[in-house]
Amino acid sequence: MTYFKSKPDNDTLRNKKHKTELPYKIADLPTSDRIDDLLSRMSLTEKIGQMTQLDITMINTTGEQKDVILDPDKARDLILNHHIGSFLNGEAVPPGTWYKYMHELARIAVEETRLGIPVIYGIDHIHGASYLEGATIFPQNLNLAATFNPEHARNTGRITALESADLGHHWIFAPIFDLGVNPLWPRMWETYGEDPFMAGVMGAAYVIGLQNNEDTIPFRQAATGKHFLGYSDPRSGWDRTPVHLSMQQIHEFHRPSFQKAVDAGLKTIMTNSGEVNGVPVPASYDLLTELLREKMGFEGVIITDWDDIGKLVDFHYTAENFKEATYAAVMAGIDMSMTPLHLEFNTSLLELVKEGRIPEERIDDSVRRILKLKFDLGLFDHPLPRDDRFDRIGRDENRQKALNAAQESIILLKNEHNVLPLTGPAKIGVLGPSANSKRNLSGGWTIAWQGGTESQNPEDMHTIHSALADAFPDAAVLLFGPDDIPDPETASASARKSFIEKMDDLDALVYAGGEEPYCEFAGNITDLNLPREQINEFKLLSQSATPLVLVLVQGRPRLINNILHDAEAILYAGLPGFEGARAIADIISGKINPSGKMPISYPMEPNHFLPYNHKKSNLYFFDPARANQIVQDSRTTSLFPFGYGLSYTTFEYTDLILSADTMDERGRIVATVKVSNTGQAEGLETVLWFTSTHVGRITRPVKELKHFEKIPLKPGESATLEFVITPDQVSYPDKNGDLILEKGTYSILVADQKKEFRITD
Ligand code: BGC
Repeated sequence: MTYFKSKPDNDTLRNKKHKTELPYKIADLPTSDRIDDLLSRMSLTEKIGQMTQLDITMINTTGEQKDVILDPDKARDLILNHHIGSFLNGEAVPPGTWYKYMHELARIAVEETRLGIPVIYGIDHIHGASYLEGATIFPQNLNLAATFNPEHARNTGRITALESADLGHHWIFAPIFDLGVNPLWPRMWETYGEDPFMAGVMGAAYVIGLQNNEDTIPFRQAATGKHFLGYSDPRSGWDRTPVHLSMQQIHEFHRPSFQKAVDAGLKTIMTNSGEVNGVPVPASYDLLTELLREKMGFEGVIITDWDDIGKLVDFHYTAENFKEATYAAVMAGIDMSMTPLHLEFNTSLLELVKEGRIPEERIDDSVRRILKLKFDLGLFDHPLPRDDRFDRIGRDENRQKALNAAQESIILLKNEHNVLPLTGPAKIGVLGPSANSKRNLSGGWTIAWQGGTESQNPEDMHTIHSALADAFPDAAVLLFGPDDIPDPETASASARKSFIEKMDDLDALVYAGGEEPYCEFAGNITDLNLPREQINEFKLLSQSATPLVLVLVQGRPRLINNILHDAEAILYAGLPGFEGARAIADIISGKINPSGKMPISYPMEPNHFLPYNHKKSNLYFFDPARANQIVQDSRTTSLFPFGYGLSYTTFEYTDLILSADTMDERGRIVATVKVSNTGQAEGLETVLWFTSTHVGRITRPVKELKHFEKIPLKPGESATLEFVITPDQVSYPDKNGDLILEKGTYSILVADQKKEFRITD
């Protein structure tokens, strides 16, 4: 007789559990075993249900997007009878409301269905948990890019997860890896700017911050790389209109940002709804399967964008009906259809499999990826949300991070006679459409799709006017609303005169102009100029002798050429988010020294846009006499070039030294440069390292960003920075994505410093 029983090992434990529990429910089994087991138990309709995502309006009580109250019968019908495995969206409501809704939705799926497969919920929290009341709201991505500091993108991801993962928000539809290259495009502000390297660095930082946040355990969130691929560069500038890109351009410019995120572990990708080279991307086998899966090695879930399959029928007209559209998209490589308002995807796909046109193995591939996502996020083991950590939402330390990001994102574009920072003003006039607006500071996808109403914004949030009043407690900070400003086109001469006299009596005028929130097609425009009323008001104000500061609160670079000389100072505020007004006031008051830099090439004239990494021939016929008025020393058609931004101090670059002036294809050259703060104030400087390939078989951009670093420097202080150049950094792809390394001469450029080196055999 033995008195000591042997301790059960994992296998015996598992075997024991197997008797009572199905293998896919056992948390300590390898995920692949759990997926195999579950998949083997699923019917075809259950599998197809997993590939479908439906909108909140199909399961809430009123059918309105803002209504986050579950109608359990509607949810039950879709989950039990149609096996729907995913839902999306809503609008900003308090955490308790989200919790209740998600708890019941999750519970129905795990407790009432045959197999208990949890639902995965997708939501557009694009700059903080923007559909959650009380959440911390960061600047939009274009602002984050202007910080040239990936830490802020990482924090945006981290805090989004921290504030929303508990609520059952599993799948965040961010970030955008599209390039901000067309200033008309209404989603410019959602991008990390025009540079592929920069977009990759910032986006990957967001993905890592969001997906790898250990503080959200036991929950995890998935990020989404949007919108694969080429979406942002339509010839017309309008949303979802045709894009023409050669495969070489795709590999060189549009792939790298997505690739960086894929390499960093990005879990999901959303398709571009539009067409590239005549083929709608959701139906493009070349882009989704050959490029994304096979060449780029993406193993996660590919979801369509909103009704992308329907759009193949009545937007692109490439499919005769929904069933043919479903065939095209599934065979091209999509895993999940954001259908999202009906069940036609399910019925069509079922028929297609039954008819033998789509093999069931194809369905299994997608379902396997979807189940893996659900397992990886911990949904099987922790399907229900929790409500005991709401104190994390919008807490001070999170908001401080959003404020820091906003402060670093604001770009000082002009500062004649050092009018900024304002010192000791007794009276400041604040005017313009964004002077007293909260909603304008955050743009679309904030609170609601097209931006929340004014009263939906937090009570304790500052407008530019209230933030300036706070920053200048000893001054009279006077707000002039639209009715206080005479209409420059219709008002009498005497009304205008007395208004100007009133302005003359002030010490500074801050005009906050730009754009109101918009999103997607609602932001299509035909004229990039700042709206005419604003130009007129600004011209009127410029008749006053009082210094005039223009603050641009906007999602894209509206043209300001005709008021450029009327402003003493210009701040590009972009869409700085809930803490943005404080950040603007901090810069105007001098509490913060501006350090933002242009993440795009700000166009000078209406009909000519060029990103900084254009080709040499683009400017061959360029007349330097037309060069922009602000940056005299750079040969560019942009008003403010990529990387441009002033500070309250000055920086000087000297001593660019290369460790060697030649290398072979296995070599490396160490470049160093000395950066000195030669002014009177402490400041942050972004050091941008570019290379230029002198001769290429495929025409080369005039220069390409390869590395950037942001450093603090006190007055009189210097730092030596280093950049190691290797041949792989200057090689570039051909039309197949295979790399070419030119043997020849290159330049390395950092600010006004330039050195040449050669790559030899
Ligand atoms: C947008 C996506 C978004 C999706 C879900 C689409 O219209 O293009 O960026 O994530 O809707 O709201």
